[in-house]
Amino acid sequence: MVQNSANPIAITICMGSSCFSRGNNRSIGVIQSFLETRQGEPAIEVCGRLCEGQCKLGPNLCVNGRDYHEVDPVMVLGLVNDALVHRREDT
Ligand code: FES
Repeated sequence: MVQNSANPIAITICMGSSCFSRGNNRSIGVIQSFLETRQGEPAIEVCGRLCEGQCKLGPNLCVNGRDYHEVDPVMVLGLVNDALVHRREDT
């Protein structure tokens, strides 16, 4: 899912079974709802990835190349908001 393709904030969610079942399944819904309420806002690109062997640290998620561990659906909103704030500061 992509909103506005110019210089997007990149969110990569581990879709491996461990991360998915322990929270990323809910985080995806949170991100989708967030994007639906922010049409026309800075670009956010969301994609999934396969298990990268860091299941013990999960649920894992990556925002703009930085890995985050033990991410829960509440925390994911904070990560996205932080990325948006930093993006505005950089422009
Ligand atoms: S399932 Fe996410 S790192 Fe293994």
